[in-house]
Amino acid sequence: MAQWVTIWRAAQLVGVPRGTLQQRVRTGEIELNDGLVSTEALLALYPQVRLEETGLLERVVQIRDEAFGKRVRERLLPSQEVLAQRLFHQSQELADVQRHLQRYHALVLALRDELRVCDAEAGGSDPRFADLLRQLNDGLARALATESVDVLDVMDDMLKVVSAQVTVRPSGHQFVVEGRDSLLQAGMKAGLKLNYGCGNGSCGMCKVRVTAGEVARCMPSDYPLSETEKAQGYVLACAHTAATSELTLETLEAAGPEDIPPQAIVATVRATRALAPDTMLLHLQTPRTHRLRFLAGQAVTLALATGGSGGSATEDAHAEHPVASCPCDDRNLHFYIPRRAGDALAERLFGGALKAGDAVTVHGPAGRFVLDETPLPLVFAACDTGFAPIKSLIEHALSLDAAPSMSLFWLATRPDGHFMANQCRAWSEALDSFEYSALTHDDAAVGASLVAQAMRADLFGIDSAFYLAGPEAFVRTLAAELAAGGVPASRIRAEVVA
Ligand code: FES
Repeated sequence: MAQWVTIWRAAQLVGVPRGTLQQRVRTGEIELNDGLVSTEALLALYPQVRLEETGLLERVVQIRDEAFGKRVRERLLPSQEVLAQRLFHQSQELADVQRHLQRYHALVLALRDELRVCDAEAGGSDPRFADLLRQLNDGLARALATESVDVLDVMDDMLKVVSAQVTVRPSGHQFVVEGRDSLLQAGMKAGLKLNYGCGNGSCGMCKVRVTAGEVARCMPSDYPLSETEKAQGYVLACAHTAATSELTLETLEAAGPEDIPPQAIVATVRATRALAPDTMLLHLQTPRTHRLRFLAGQAVTLALATGGSGGSATEDAHAEHPVASCPCDDRNLHFYIPRRAGDALAERLFGGALKAGDAVTVHGPAGRFVLDETPLPLVFAACDTGFAPIKSLIEHALSLDAAPSMSLFWLATRPDGHFMANQCRAWSEALDSFEYSALTHDDAAVGASLVAQAMRADLFGIDSAFYLAGPEAFVRTLAAELAAGGVPASRIRAEVVA
């Protein structure tokens, strides 16, 4: 018999992006019943699905392989306590089902005995008794027959133990908690804009209300919840994980940049590396207890503290740069710094005066170049270091796993301008629904027209959301070409990155 699963779980089971299934729902290939998909329908669409193909069996085999050891177990499995709690809840559910089945079975047998008595009393004169008895016996034989097990049902049961599915109200967003992640970590990995501050249990900003399911503490916390809050089901998302395979939380999420508070964090240079003759990677790390909350696509101001007169510190080298990394890793911030005249920070970086261990103050975040919540295909176009916010957006979109497809066009105006080409090719090779095109022209405006030509070939006719980032000439020209091609302004977001 088919089971019913959410779209999120269905995508996990068959190993495709959630956006792909949502697209199939829109085209009518998948029918939803109360928001759920039947495992029978899934198997009809993905008959090739086997445990091996989603990697689940492989994971289990790896877990059994002691040589592979602790690392895999820790990455994939929750703690022993959480695992025990999930198994306990699942066993309770199974025991309930078993008890019901036994009662139904006893009821059916009792009805059959009653029918036999009625049939005997009627002396076989009423054929309806014989018909009912035959139907009952056939039905019982079918119900008790041994059938091959639906592989998706087995996988679903396994997933319920090793991972938990969380639904957030009122947004309806869903995410999966895997391994030893807290609710906050798992939500951020899934691209949700959950409220939080310190990330270590001391500020109380990540409070959520548990309305269904149970949680388990996964980290000590200092923040004192009141007795009333505890009674109402409030917990700290950064210090708790899911103890049941399904959990519903009530919390507000950031709707946009206006909900992210301004911050000032003294971070440390973790590494610097030349990506191309004119582009350097700057990797900053924030303190564990003071992370940067930002949205993908936003920028920050980086400032170098230097000694001022009278022993006071001043910030004499500062510049705004887009964050190139994903908000899901809020401690490790990556920047692609171009060699730029008049940018004192860039000059120090290229001159070798900024080294691992140095302090850099991060102010921000700023900017409205963020991903819209849309079920449309996403088209990204970057020029030179405009790739930084685009990369952050792509990583965020991959976390959300909701876009039916993504296309990336990257124009380089300098030699070695595609300084992260390997990363782009890796996305393209790993994801069926990701296309990457690299273009080169030394004039950003002419290059933008080339990008438009490449897009026009197959994207102008499709209702898509466009994200453009790069020098002003690139952004302005490409936006104009898109508008001339019939793309509504509401579908175009643009960011000038010098
Ligand atoms: S983020 Fe500060 S207590 Fe959870």
